Amino acid sequence: MTTIKADDVKRRDFLQLTAGGFGIVGVIAAATPLVNSLNPAKDTLALATTEVDISTIPPGEGRTVTWQGKPVFIKHRTPEEIKEAEDVNLALLGDKEIDSDRVKRPEWLVAIGICTHLGCVPTGQKMTEARGDYGGWFCPCHGSHYDTSGRIRKGPAPKNLAVPPYEFISDTVIKIG
Ligand code: FES
Repeated sequence: MTTIKADDVKRRDFLQLTAGGFGIVGVIAAATPLVNSLNPAKDTLALATTEVDISTIPPGEGRTVTWQGKPVFIKHRTPEEIKEAEDVNLALLGDKEIDSDRVKRPEWLVAIGICTHLGCVPTGQKMTEARGDYGGWFCPCHGSHYDTSGRIRKGPAPKNLAVPPYEFISDTVIKIG
């Protein structure tokens, strides 16, 4: 019969604990790069928001910026374009949104510049570009017409141009995202 001495038990416990400890450390060491690889890179975080100086965009013109890899239309609307957007009878709209729900300041429309049909980038940011039958944007891919509020008025696109989260951080700078 073998007798287990107290010293043997302590030694065995120590060895098991040590092996277990190394195992845990190994798992943590292996997992750390994986967790780090799942964190967004610094340059990705930087693109989470985009600040735009709008002071140089004259009325009637637009600027396209990139936010999270998507084109965003910033349009400086004229008084006529604002009136057109506000006067629309909601019953005529496929995707019923009033203009004031789509803007923070009437002179500025901010919308993601991706056609809601199949994802083309509509024209109309410049005065020289086609703006469609409703004076906003025109998607030449399959003929979708958007009004001066970015709402779909004609053609196959099912939804209005999406409005991204944004805020005015001053009278001349907006932050998208
Ligand atoms: S992608 Fe714009 S109309 Fe088809």
